[in-house]
Amino acid sequence: MAKMWTGRTSGVTEKIADDFNSSIKFDSRMYKQDILGSMAHASMLGYKNIITKDEADTLIGGLEDILNDIESGKLAIDMTAEDIHMFVEQELTARLGAVGKKLHTARSRNDQVALDTRMYLKEVAKSIIQKITNLAVAITVKAEEHKSTIMPGYTHLQRAQPITFGHHLMAYAMMFLRDIDRFKDVIRRIDVCPIGSCALAGTTYDTDRRFEAQKLGFSSIALNSIDGVSDRDFCVEFASASALTMMHLSRLSEEIILWTSWEFKFVELSDAFTTGSSIMPQKKNSDMAELVRGKTGRVYGDLMALLTMLKGLPLAYNKDMQEDKENVFDCADTLIMCLDVFAPMVDGMTVYKDNMKIAAQKGFINATDLADYLVKKGLPFRSAYKISGGIVADCIAKGKVLEDLTIEEYKGYSDLFDEDVYAEISLETCVSKRTSEGGTSPESVQAQVDYVKGILENV
Ligand code: ARG
Repeated sequence: MAKMWTGRTSGVTEKIADDFNSSIKFDSRMYKQDILGSMAHASMLGYKNIITKDEADTLIGGLEDILNDIESGKLAIDMTAEDIHMFVEQELTARLGAVGKKLHTARSRNDQVALDTRMYLKEVAKSIIQKITNLAVAITVKAEEHKSTIMPGYTHLQRAQPITFGHHLMAYAMMFLRDIDRFKDVIRRIDVCPIGSCALAGTTYDTDRRFEAQKLGFSSIALNSIDGVSDRDFCVEFASASALTMMHLSRLSEEIILWTSWEFKFVELSDAFTTGSSIMPQKKNSDMAELVRGKTGRVYGDLMALLTMLKGLPLAYNKDMQEDKENVFDCADTLIMCLDVFAPMVDGMTVYKDNMKIAAQKGFINATDLADYLVKKGLPFRSAYKISGGIVADCIAKGKVLEDLTIEEYKGYSDLFDEDVYAEISLETCVSKRTSEGGTSPESVQAQVDYVKGILENV
């Protein structure tokens, strides 16, 4: 087919160049945004008498028909077209004749592609926020159920202090709250309408850019037309917010993979979210979590690719920027897939409280509380720390835990020790007394649950 931009050149191109140049394979998914943008543009052209009202109505009707025909499957998108913008305009002109050729007055594909990408990402970001919310709800529900379930808390993956499983899960709920907030913030900067920037310099036609922006539901317009067509910060920010969310999913995945191992056996995933091995009949693998962890790498790659693609570009539009879409779409698709699989996976997770408790009883995770006991009896913390450390070392040598020592043995270390030491170092006390705001006690976890629920209800 003859190129719409035949003019300066013959428009006769090699097929291999066409294939290389074409973006329709990945930008066809923006057909709806492209058509809605064109409808708003036609409407503005009519309202400003740049074309007649009748012509505007004809264009709008034609565009609406194309949209309906694509959605009903009557019209297939031509995969040999250069891009979605050209396809829609070509189809419109084929259907309407000469009047179709008026649509592109006072605009450029450069502002069109920026517009479509912004409209598309705005919608996707909203649905991502919804999906993160669903996951955060699933996590919060589990956390509330397990606000008193004792497990070892770790630092350096070494048992550190007793915590509750609910407390541990709520740490992830907090991360997801920040992710939601970040996507909301990204939407704020996506929500700027570039249309009317034209190729780069604006236009001599008496257009009304704010009319178009308002019709398309944008909050504001790009205030510099060169920036309007060359800004892809919103793509980078979208990828960055996606990468951070993936990082959180990946950290939780890593923990789920550890927890489902025989070495931990803290949780078990439902059969519906695990796989077996083709050779080892005993296997139940956490493939979904492993894939989420693996896919995090590709989203980081998308972010890096975008930053690198943009870093040397002179203003304004350059064809390099066509590459942005594959990256942001890959971020969106990957993140959405991961979120979709994660919420039901967490929901159907069985928690083995007894195994968590047994693990918490080993590893001297109440040693801090032993030191604190002495501090409360008047000893400076550093001295108390030293005595407790010595007790732990002796216990390890004798194959004992702190609870096994007799009161006489304790008094051998310090005469500040009394019978009440046993209650003080019981795991239940260690947990229930950590009532500081944000701490691990069941009441504190409940407060975190209530706070997060309150926010999630109003996302
Ligand atoms: N397909 C192009 C892209 O995705 C559309 C913009 C093309 N503009 C141009 N002057 N070639 O970026």
